Amino acid sequence: MHKEFAEIYDVFMKHVDYKGWYKFLKSYMKNKGEVLDLGCGTGEFIYRFLKDGFSVTGVDISADMLKIAEEKIKSKNIKISSYKLIKDNIVSYSHIKKVDYVICNFDTVNYLENKKEFEKFIDKSAENLKKGGYLIFDAVTEEIFEEIFENGIFLDEEPEYTSIWRYEKLSFEKYFVEIDLFIKQKEEENLFRKYNEQHNKFIYDPQWIVKTVQSKGFEIFDVAKNPDFGESRIFFIFKKL
Ligand SMILES: C[S@@+](CC[C@H](N)C(=O)[O-])C[C@H]1O[C@@H](n2cnc3c(N)ncnc32)[C@H](O)[C@@H]1O
Repeated sequence: MHKEFAEIYDVFMKHVDYKGWYKFLKSYMKNKGEVLDLGCGTGEFIYRFLKDGFSVTGVDISADMLKIAEEKIKSKNIKISSYKLIKDNIVSYSHIKKVDYVICNFDTVNYLENKKEFEKFIDKSAENLKKGGYLIFDAVTEEIFEEIFENGIFLDEEPEYTSIWRYEKLSFEKYFVEIDLFIKQKEEENLFRKYNEQHNKFIYDPQWIVKTVQSKGFEIFDVAKNPDFGESRIFFIFKKL
């Protein structure tokens, strides 16, 4: 996922209130420190943390997403020594160093293939967090499909692009999502380039998430919803014991 798509990811996400989301994350991050941003994408959170004096390591499986993150951070004139970007899998990256905060945003955990992979993600997070450090991530519930799709289809039309989303339930916890995206080419008024993105979404039971993370050396700090970021999104905030 997110290969060609990386190029237009920020256009596609233009309605997301990253500023508000960042503020929401910061409400759980009272002290400055080191952040590990898993599935960091195009770096929308990274540059904000850097500007506020945090140091950040971003991990993402997509080299294309990381390239955009790198360009974005450079364009903000931030000290290079305070960040690192690593192309790796968030369930198996090599040990980084102990940080104060591990974050993973925008239902990136729902892209993991199954519960085993989710558990590996938690194990790696525990390995890289300082005692008393926070693990903050969000996951969407099955209601996301009712929230976004009407009769199985979601259509998003903007002057710069049109996107058509479809989904299919593959099994009890697994969904297939396909997006056709048509981006208007700058020079040619009525010429659109077509992109296709396909991914699976794995849906976890929120109670299973809490029980599993607690069993791996964390205590629950908060479980929160924020309607600004969707009714079907749940934020989980854990503290490492
Ligand atoms: C929905 S995007 C979220 C990006 C970013 N966190 C944000 O909020 O804008 C999901 C990101 O996770 C990355 N990703 C998905 N599965 C991954 C994995 N197993 N390991 C590392 N990155 C992954 C994708 O490449 C993509 O950049």
